[in-house]
Amino acid sequence: MPLDLDPAGAGFIADPYPSLAEARARRPIFRSAALGGWVVTRYADCRALLKDQRLSADRMSPFFGHMPAERRGRVERLEAMVTRWAVFVDPPDHTRLRALMNKAFNPRAIEGLAPMVLKRVDALIDAFPAEGRLDFIREFAYPLPATVIADLLGVPLEDVDLLKRWSDDLGAFVLTARATPDKYERAESAAREMEAYFGDLIEARRARPGEDAASWMIGAADRDARMSREELVATCVLLLFAGHETTTHLLGNGLWALLTHPAEMARLRARRSDPDFVEGAVEEMLRWDGPSLAQVRVARECVEWQGAVFEPGDRIFLMLASANRDGDVFADPDRFDLSRTPGQNLAFGYGIHFCVGAPLARLEGRVAFPRLLERLPHVALAPQALRWSDNLVVRGVHSLEIDIVRGTGGA
Ligand code: HEM
Repeated sequence: MPLDLDPAGAGFIADPYPSLAEARARRPIFRSAALGGWVVTRYADCRALLKDQRLSADRMSPFFGHMPAERRGRVERLEAMVTRWAVFVDPPDHTRLRALMNKAFNPRAIEGLAPMVLKRVDALIDAFPAEGRLDFIREFAYPLPATVIADLLGVPLEDVDLLKRWSDDLGAFVLTARATPDKYERAESAAREMEAYFGDLIEARRARPGEDAASWMIGAADRDARMSREELVATCVLLLFAGHETTTHLLGNGLWALLTHPAEMARLRARRSDPDFVEGAVEEMLRWDGPSLAQVRVARECVEWQGAVFEPGDRIFLMLASANRDGDVFADPDRFDLSRTPGQNLAFGYGIHFCVGAPLARLEGRVAFPRLLERLPHVALAPQALRWSDNLVVRGVHSLEIDIVRGTGGA
C-alpha cells in the first residue's frame, strides 16, 4: 500500500503516532499527495533540516504570491502582518527581529516571573468547584497562558477574550490549509483589529513606558531604529498568538497524559517538590505528546537529501511529533516515562527559529503541574470523547472534562 498521511482523517487527528511510526520505518522521507509536499519523520533529518539554510521559513510569501490579484487585495493587512512575523522570516531580517525578542524574553527575566505565574495558577484553582466536573481547558489551560502573555505585553486583562477571538481567526488562516467559508475575511478583519489595537498600545507605552516586554521592545526599537512600526506591531501580535495556544496544549495534553498514566501521575505527585524531577516531567510531556505536530519549510534551491530531491518551491513538512518518538534517539519512545533523562526533544523546534517563548512555557508547566497536584488530591478523567484540533502544526484538545473528587477515589 502506498504510504501517505491524511491529516484530515479522523484516525490521524486522534492518534497520529501509528502512521508516523510506520512512515519512520518504511519510508522516512516521502512525498505526500494529501499534503502537497514532502514529509520528513526521523529525528536526525528533522533536526538537520531545521538548521539547513537552503530551506526557507517563509511559507507565507509564496502563498500570497499565488493568490489571484483580486483576492490578494482583500487580505492586504493580513499579508503585511504575517509576512513580518519572525517565524516566517529568513536572515538577515530574522536576525534583527529575533535579537529584540531575545532581549525581552531572556531566560533570567522569565525566571523572575515565577511568583506572578504562581499567583495566577492559584487564582484559577481557587475558582474551581470544591468537587464536581469542570473543563480544564476553559478554566485553566487557556486562561493561564493567555493572561500571562497579556501581562507581559501590557494588555489589560479585560481585553484577553477579545484578543483570543482575533487570535483564533488568525489561527484558522495560519495553522490550517483547510477552506472554511469566510476564513480569509475573518483573518483580514482580525489583522486590522489587532493592528489598530497594538498600534494604540504601542503609542501609549511610548508615551508612558511600563515594566512590560512591549515597553522594553519599543524602547529598544526606538533607540536603535532597528524595527519599523509595522514590524513592532507584527511582533506583538506574533508573541500574543504564539504565546498562548501552544502552552494551553502543553497543559491540556500534559494533564491528559497524567490522567491516562496513573502510575506516572502518582510519581509526579510524590516528587512535586523536586525541581529536577518536575523539569524532566515537563520535558517528557512536551516529547511524548506535546503541542508541536509539524513545522513547514520551503526549498529555496534544489536540495538532495537522503535520496529525496526537493525542488525549489517544494514544501517540506518536518514532523516534530514523529521525531520525538524516534527510537534511534529515545529509548522505548512510545512509553510515557517522567524519569527519563530529558535529551533534546524538538517540541520547541531547533536552529535559528527555536522557540523564543520556551523558557516561559517551561516555567508555566513547572509551576502549574506541582500546584495542581498539590491542591487537587483527587482528580479523574470524566467520560468523554476527546476532540483533537485538526491542524497539522499544533496538537491539542478543545476541551478536557475532569472530575474533582472529595475524599478517596480518583488518582
Ligand atoms: C509549549 C509551548 C510552546 C511550544 C510547543 C512552542 C513551539 C514552537 C516551535 C516549534 C517554534 C519553531 C517554529 C519554526 O521552526 O518554524 C516556535 C517558535 C516561536 N515561538 Fe513558540 N512554542 C511555545 C510557546 C511559546 C510562547 C509562550 C511564546 C511567547 C512568549 C512563543 C513564541 C514563539 C516565537 C516568537 C517563535 C518564533 C521564533 C523565531 O522565528 O525566531 N512560543 N515555537
